[in-house]
Amino acid sequence: MKREVPPQQAHRLLATRPVCLVTTMSQGQVNVMTLAWHCPVSLDPPLLAMAVHPSTLTHELLRQREECVLNIPGRPLLEAVLTCGSITGRDEDKVSRLGLELEAGQALDAPWVVACLAHLECVLVDRIQPGDHTIYIMQIVSAWAEEEAFGQTWIAPPAADELAPLLHLGGAAFATLGSLSSQTNRDAEHE
Ligand SMILES: Cc1cc2nc3c(=O)[nH]c(=O)nc-3n(C[C@H](O)[C@H](O)[C@H](O)COP(=O)(O)O)c2cc1C
Repeated sequence: MKREVPPQQAHRLLATRPVCLVTTMSQGQVNVMTLAWHCPVSLDPPLLAMAVHPSTLTHELLRQREECVLNIPGRPLLEAVLTCGSITGRDEDKVSRLGLELEAGQALDAPWVVACLAHLECVLVDRIQPGDHTIYIMQIVSAWAEEEAFGQTWIAPPAADELAPLLHLGGAAFATLGSLSSQTNRDAEHE
């Protein structure tokens, strides 16, 4: 038997994606925000879309400085994910509160969150406002990943708990990678 899912919850049927800690930096101010609504939209050039609410400080900093880093946290950063997703940088410096170690990235001024498993450095290409979030289309200019956690794909199951990206199910619910189903002899049109 199937139950009807309200349209406003239906996006959860398209989960899971790794939750991200997005770092932005403008005029010396660094901010970190939790973001789960992101999606690849082009291979060449490599583009992703991310939905950012206009009320956030991240939205404002992205307007000022059109770049950000999507840092992908592992399980040990769950508390930071929830804190960065519930407090605005307008009220408190989340980097200091959480004692997050930052490091200069490769191509941008926006920094990496060192404890994360991977970092996608992105610059703005376009933005649209179809609903209550702004869709930022970002080009990935540089990406780095912990080699014990990511080979050609995320390694599943991970060798250790801390190497598992946090997959967002919705709200404050997360999963981690379990078993792998793979057919390496078949080409997949979408990589
Ligand atoms: C798990 C999780 C996922 C979230 N995903 C998004 C998202 O995709 N887009 C968004 O605008 N806000 C999202 N949020 C809410 C923001 O992280 C939250 O509003 C944050 O306080 C904004 O921070 P800022 O004002 O410092 O930028 C999410 C929160 C959580 C806990």
